[in-house]
This record gives sequence, structure tokens and C-alpha cells, in this order.
Amino acid sequence: MKIKYLVYTLTLIMALYSCSNESQEELRAQALADLDLPTGEEEEGEPGEENGNETNLITYDGEIRDIMLNNCNRCHTIPLAFGAPFPLLTFNDVSSRANRIIARMNDGSNPMPPSGLLPLNIRVVVEQWREDGLLEN
Ligand code: HEC
Repeated sequence: MKIKYLVYTLTLIMALYSCSNESQEELRAQALADLDLPTGEEEEGEPGEENGNETNLITYDGEIRDIMLNNCNRCHTIPLAFGAPFPLLTFNDVSSRANRIIARMNDGSNPMPPSGLLPLNIRVVVEQWREDGLLEN
């Protein structure tokens, strides 16, 4: 009778122990999931996936129009001013000339705007726009 009791008790303790062990594991897994640590597998997600990459792409509507407005449209406007050869007012105006725009914006001896090179952080945004595929929005 006594031994039976002991076996019951031991079984019960073991059952409880393994049970609590299991939930410890679950808690740990849940905590890790909550931390949302990068796994390395998600790094190469396509734009548009839930990793938020798409918000990092440079677009004409997002950044480029304002850069043109602040630095180029004084001359590259309609009507053309100060001898500028074309307007840079629309997505088409700018995207179709991206290569020349980037070349001249980074040409230290013949820069656009003619008054001098813009700060590097502005110039790299336009280059990144081309890298990202000349997106409109
Ligand atoms: C003060 C007036 C003025 C401003 C501001 C200005 N431009 Fe120009 N741009 C000109 C003139 C004048 C020309 C034609 C003479 C030349 O090419 O240097 C020209 C020519 C160009 C050309 C064609 C030349 C080529 O080499 O293909 C591009 C591209 C250009 N500008 C881009 C820009 C960009 C981008 C900005 C702003 C970051 C800008 N420009 C700001 C006056 C201006």
C-alpha cells in the first residue's frame, strides 16, 4: 500500500515536472518570437513584402520632385529660364534624363545647378532613385 502511494506520488511529480518544463520551453519560444529578432531568412524579401522594404525605396513623388523644385526649377521650368534647355517639372521630364541629371549633378567642373555641387546627401538620393528603378511612386 505504501509503495503504491510512493509510485503514484513520484509519477505525479514527474508529470508535473515535465509539464512545467514544456511550458517553460513554450514561454521561451514565445518570448523569442515577440522579440522579432532578424533570422537572416527574411533579409532578401521582395519589395512589397511585410518587412517594410518598400517604404525605403526612393520615388519621384516621395523625394525627387522636391529636390528638383528646390534646386533646378528656377531655370528648368516653363517658360524656360536662364538658358536652361528643357523643363524638369514632371516625372517624365526627369526620369527620361536621369543619367544626364546625375552626371551633371556630380560634375565638379561643370555642375548642375551651375552655382555649385549640392550637398552629397541630396546627390546620393537621386543616384539611389536610379538604383531603385526610377520609380514614380
Ligand atoms: C541657374 C539656372 C539653372 C539651374 C538652377 C539648374 N540648371 Fe541645369 N542647366 C542650365 C543651363 C543654362 C543649361 C545649359 C548649359 C549647360 O549644359 O551647362 C543646363 C543644362 C542642364 C542639363 C543638360 C546638360 C547636359 O549635360 O546634358 C541637365 C541634365 C541639367 N541642366 C540638370 C539640372 C539639374 C538636375 C538641376 C538641379 C539639380 C539644374 N540643372 C539646375 C541652368 C540651370
